[in-house]
Amino acid sequence: MPIESERAVTQAVLRAVEQSADARHAELVGALVRHLHEFIRETRLSEQELEFAFDFLNRIGQATNDSHNEAALFSDALGASTLVCLLNNGDGAATETASALLGPFWRLNAPELENGASLLRSPTPGTPLLMRGSVQDDTGKPIAGVRVDVWQASPVGLYENQDAEQAEMNLRGVFSTDADGRFHFESVRPAGYPVPMHGPTGDMLRKQNRQSYRPAHLHFLLFRNGFKTLITQVFPGDDPHLDDDPVFGVTANLIGNYTTENAGTEQERCVLDYRFTMQPGEARLPVPPIK
Ligand SMILES: [Fe+2]
Repeated sequence: MPIESERAVTQAVLRAVEQSADARHAELVGALVRHLHEFIRETRLSEQELEFAFDFLNRIGQATNDSHNEAALFSDALGASTLVCLLNNGDGAATETASALLGPFWRLNAPELENGASLLRSPTPGTPLLMRGSVQDDTGKPIAGVRVDVWQASPVGLYENQDAEQAEMNLRGVFSTDADGRFHFESVRPAGYPVPMHGPTGDMLRKQNRQSYRPAHLHFLLFRNGFKTLITQVFPGDDPHLDDDPVFGVTANLIGNYTTENAGTEQERCVLDYRFTMQPGEARLPVPPIK
């Protein structure tokens, strides 16, 4: 039947989508069509603006390569990644969770390291860091044998895949919790860093007069059969960008207890103690955003 009005377009598309034999596909795309059409009506989207949107989406793909995931960054900068994280983790009773967004920099196959080892694989100037973690279940019982995947930016604010000065897999490693559910490692204190600004996400942040620096953090991915994979980040409480993180990753649960030993001396060292709680559930590794 010919489409008789702008209202009829939406119904025609929804009827087409509903022909899918995949019920979840029909639900997702149907909702997307309803909201997209409503967005177009609400904003009275112009033809030029639609052309801009085509170009913007195409540029997301063009900016993506093996070491950069612009789609993940765009989702992060819109708060979509954090919203999905908050909806799918925690008990649903609060907005806070022990989880945080994965971000665009996790790599599979980081080196497996002994407890206490260093994440440094090439000279990395910065304040030494000792991180001591413990992992427990929701009854407080330690969990042994958890694979703890750690990654962080260097003190100059770059992950090794962004920085020719750093060795392959520098500041990345995988540890395993001992019988007491503990692990520890040495590294350098992480620094805040600007999210990559060279692509369309950077254009959007500039257009909105948003600052680009993430607060300093360590990333963790905790994996063990029988438990829901815990993906999170831990931030120092004194970082100036806790309140304007461009990817909205900071919840109060994720402020870590960073202390400084021997401040002002050659032996100055930062120590972070943090306790992770894993929920029962499915152990599943995410698709790595970069290679
Ligand atoms: Fe990060």
